[in-house]
Amino acid sequence: MSELVHFCKVNGPSSMYRTIHTYEKDHWLIDTKGNKYLDTMSGCRTSILGQGVKSIKDAMKAQMDELPYYPTVFHSYNSIAHKGTEILNQEFPDNTEVFYTPTGSLANESAIKFATKYWELNGEKSKKGICYMSKSYHGTTGLIGSTSDQPINKFMNLDIIFPGSKIDTSFDNEKINIEETLEYIEHDFKYDNFNMAAIIIDAISTSGLYSYNSYFWTNLRYLADKYNILIILDEVVTGFAKTGHMFASHKWNIKADIVTIGKGMANGYFPLAATMCNKKITEKFDWLLHGMTFSSHPIGMAAFIENHRILDLKLPIIKKRFDKGIHKELAENLKSNYIKSIRIHGVLGGLTSIKEFNVRLVEEEGWKRGIIVYAGGGPKSTKLTWCLPITLSDEEIKLFFDTLQSIFDDFKSKEGI
Ligand SMILES: Cc1ncc(COP(=O)(O)O)c(C=O)c1O
Repeated sequence: MSELVHFCKVNGPSSMYRTIHTYEKDHWLIDTKGNKYLDTMSGCRTSILGQGVKSIKDAMKAQMDELPYYPTVFHSYNSIAHKGTEILNQEFPDNTEVFYTPTGSLANESAIKFATKYWELNGEKSKKGICYMSKSYHGTTGLIGSTSDQPINKFMNLDIIFPGSKIDTSFDNEKINIEETLEYIEHDFKYDNFNMAAIIIDAISTSGLYSYNSYFWTNLRYLADKYNILIILDEVVTGFAKTGHMFASHKWNIKADIVTIGKGMANGYFPLAATMCNKKITEKFDWLLHGMTFSSHPIGMAAFIENHRILDLKLPIIKKRFDKGIHKELAENLKSNYIKSIRIHGVLGGLTSIKEFNVRLVEEEGWKRGIIVYAGGGPKSTKLTWCLPITLSDEEIKLFFDTLQSIFDDFKSKEGI
């Protein structure tokens, strides 16, 4: 099959790729050869309600008849975008100024531009830099590529270097060392603050699912105010009920100046993301030279509103069955000499392997055995993640973990570790 179907060699030659054609029973994917896979990545951490949500599809169809498309780039909004914004304003009462984008990368790119422009409007034009955490990923555009700790610009031979600095996250025994990480952040803020516009940071790291705590977030807010630096919180992965809270910021009471969301916003049925600022930022702007053809697309907004309604109802189940319950129990029972640590946050799960063991092998073997897990960050990886759809039965959750266990066991018997 031609590579041009979708030029993509991220994980190896195209012969390894499956072409997914349809689905069965919410979360079983079927490829063009009739093979079945349990969708244990929920699409791309997007579709925790699975593929079959009739009421979301109906809402999208109804919106097709009402108004299939009108942009928000002229002197116009569309009425369904207002409804969506009301929901987001309730979720984020401090970040009520919403700018919609089609993807998480563009939401983060917009956040950075709002931050740098804010400081100019505030009389501090030199504040243009961005601090970001080690191992972070915030998206794929050139600008975001230089404010994430991933070699994606270098790989493309791009010389885009945005002013900024990488801050190390300190680890102790597979947990973030909160005090030391705060010290590193303060050091950066203190010595670079005259040209730093913002820090961009995940609520939970996408690779490995390491998390901070409320003490960290309170102190980060304190340091950001002390050194005049904005906080951009990236909730692209952690939003929309995946952690057992509608947003991870609710769990830790995170106070950010700008919050970005995306991925699960429309259960993956439409590309939709958003950048939400507090009024302190937007009231400085009298106009905005920044717009996108597909901001707040009506079909995506219809999917988002219905998706949010359902997720709100399902939160108690996510807490009971995924954040605790069977998901946590089975994850903690995974045993292998290759595994160093495991973390669970709601439907999200992640493990770190010993450094000699490349978890890409598990990803490849998973496809062969009908489960989907993801090994991020380059051809060699020690971080494996999954994102379970909440439609899985207990037997299917068990099937996932039994398969994962059998993969690790088979490597063990082959390699003799
Ligand atoms: C934490 C985080 N932020 C931003 C993005 C970028 O989102 P998108 O791929 O929709 O541009 C991702 C994508 O995986 C992500 O994990």
